Amino acid sequence: MELPELIMNTGATIPQIGFGLWRNKERDECVDAVTFALEAGYTHFDDAQVYGNEQYLGEAVTDHGADRAELFITTKIGTDNMDADTLASSFAESLKKLRTDYVDLLLLHFPVTETRAEAWLELEKLYDSGAAKAIGVSNYTITHLEELLRTCKVKPAVNQVELSVVLQQPELVEFCSDNDIIVEAYTPLAEGHFFDDPTLKAIAAKHSKTVPQIMLRWCIDYGVVCLTKSANKERIEQNIDIFDFELDDADMAKLQALDQNHRTNWDPTDVE
Ligand SMILES: NC(=O)c1ccc[n+]([C@@H]2O[C@H](COP(=O)([O-])OP(=O)(O)OC[C@H]3O[C@@H](n4cnc5c(N)ncnc54)[C@H](OP(=O)(O)O)[C@@H]3O)[C@@H](O)[C@H]2O)c1
Repeated sequence: MELPELIMNTGATIPQIGFGLWRNKERDECVDAVTFALEAGYTHFDDAQVYGNEQYLGEAVTDHGADRAELFITTKIGTDNMDADTLASSFAESLKKLRTDYVDLLLLHFPVTETRAEAWLELEKLYDSGAAKAIGVSNYTITHLEELLRTCKVKPAVNQVELSVVLQQPELVEFCSDNDIIVEAYTPLAEGHFFDDPTLKAIAAKHSKTVPQIMLRWCIDYGVVCLTKSANKERIEQNIDIFDFELDDADMAKLQALDQNHRTNWDPTDVE
């Protein structure tokens, strides 16, 4: 299956759908989930130091025999590892756990006020070394991005934020687009809070798809990278089965109207 891709400001491509590993800490469940995902056709995996499962992703990929060159692997530097003394050694540890000598994308997980500037300098060194093929940030607001863009040598390739059909963040998406930064959407299903929404149900019925599939496909048509997580084989398969239909203009207009700034995770707006 050919998955849609976007082109990052490094010139490399990023698959537009990725398999997330948050809240998948238990070994067997995590290894099984990654294996199901590989079998279902996912090539993009979104991990983080703080998820505590980089070693299980490394194990599952190795055991599956997947070609590393065909995969897109992201990890994120945790809040506690963002100081200049710790970041590089913590990343070396991540690579060991992931059983690889590079990641396709390395992100700062949060815009930690005290350490984000020094952390970015460390990320730039890892980018220069080739151990991180692209570098970026997560949970950055426009203000955080403006600060970074004023000083950085290497521009962030990606900003990973909570985004869904009920949290469309148009200003942030436009700012990122203007600055050649790809937006990645996490929690695109809004934790299931809108699975009974009549508009979503009607559009799902029209295309013989499920509401989660409509929510994920909307992310693709909105032009962002969509990160989805499940530990269930059927749902893992369902979530990537979103490329055999199209949302038309009328669907997209109705979906745009669902935007209501509904956040299920924390809001980084007040982080100075
Ligand atoms: N950078 C950050 O700060 C940050 C924060 C949050 C998430 N993320 C990343 O984004 C990824 C996705 O976010 P998320 O895990 O919050 O997202 P999500 O995909 O919106 O929600 C996952 C939840 O929905 C359920 N689910 C998945 N597919 C479903 C389907 N087809 N039908 C019904 N329920 C379904 C899953 O349960 P089951 O497992 O039981 O299917 C799980 O509880 C994460 O795994 C992580 O990689 C990053």
